[in-house]
Amino acid sequence: MAYRCRRNYTNRVPTTWQEMQEEKVKELTEFYIPERILYRDEHINNIREVFTRFKKHGTAKNLLIQGFSGTGKTVCINKILTEQENSFIYISGAQQVTANQVLRSIVDLNFSTRERLLSEAIRKFRKSPTIIIIDEINKLKRVEEVRWLFNDLNTLYRETGCPIILITNKRNVLGLADHDAVRTLFFRILEFKPYNALEIRGIIQDRIDLVNKKYDAGISLPEHFLPLVAAISIKEAEGSARLGLFLTNDCVLAEEFSEEHVRKVIKELNSGEWVEFIRNMPSIEKQFLKLILELASKDRIIPIASLVKLGGDYPPQRVSQIVNALQGYGLIERIKSKIDKRIVNVKFVSDDIAEKIDKIMELES
Ligand SMILES: Nc1ncnc2c1ncn2[C@@H]1O[C@H](COP(=O)(O)OP(=O)(O)O)[C@@H](O)[C@H]1O
Ligand SMILES: [Mg+2]
Repeated sequence: MAYRCRRNYTNRVPTTWQEMQEEKVKELTEFYIPERILYRDEHINNIREVFTRFKKHGTAKNLLIQGFSGTGKTVCINKILTEQENSFIYISGAQQVTANQVLRSIVDLNFSTRERLLSEAIRKFRKSPTIIIIDEINKLKRVEEVRWLFNDLNTLYRETGCPIILITNKRNVLGLADHDAVRTLFFRILEFKPYNALEIRGIIQDRIDLVNKKYDAGISLPEHFLPLVAAISIKEAEGSARLGLFLTNDCVLAEEFSEEHVRKVIKELNSGEWVEFIRNMPSIEKQFLKLILELASKDRIIPIASLVKLGGDYPPQRVSQIVNALQGYGLIERIKSKIDKRIVNVKFVSDDIAEKIDKIMELES
């Protein structure tokens, strides 16, 4: 799950630590683009290669960058983009949630049909070839949109040869694309592994040192703090530097570094994230989640056949897709019946999660 920093950051540049505190510590939020990126030299070189090859030869291999949220994907690509004088287009799926919207912002035009957009894009990129970068493609609204986007990019690449760099938090995006698109686009995969505890500590300490130096802030973290924050970032968010910095930022502002406080912050953050997550879920998935909750109150293990029977007029394959989606979010899991292997059941991965969803659904309805 993505962790967002909820603090606002204004553009005025504070110069002292007092001002900095009043304005919130930008350097400790995700709105700050660090000059120094730690532990990712190899990744940066790999990405840079696409740009140098393209400049030199007019072509380059397509790149799929994947890794959990907070593993430094956006900061690395950002660093490279700041070095480039031109010849790239960067857009983020966070704002464009359909394939058509992505295409529209690539072409920078508002044609309504996909065909016109595509032919316009081809015309444009034949005339001036450029690297196309799409960040956060996992934010596209539905899996179909991801498939359509891949098909559009397939056409675009075939017709123009412009290199494409895709960035995603989710592992299985290529699995959502048609074979033909996967075969033509032939992505080289660049994996951003989750940070380990030492790396998270290193990133946070480096940022604290920067703030201390820049604003004479005199922040000193108690010894227990960084190991604790690193452990939580790994447990709660797959080694996300974003979460580590978020927790640190909150504690610095509150001038409170106790374990109790850190736990309180993470708890509040979690419940906020969950509400947002459930709210943004496609309504059909929500509907089935609700059904599973209802059934789970009687029996923890629910046959998929019951979901098909009680879920309305959806064919079994559709129900299975929805179960896949809920499983993909890490909410439920499939288990085969021990007695009859043909019977497949689902259950919540933990009572904690079932309870959490139950509470949120109650508030939402
Ligand atoms: N290697 C790194 N060195 C310094 N800061 C980092 C590093 N990786 C991540 N960060 C910080 O963590 C936050 C999240 O990084 P980001 O690149 O946005 O993650 P992603 O795009 O993978 O979700 C940013 O605020 C960034 O400053
Ligand atoms: Mg990112």
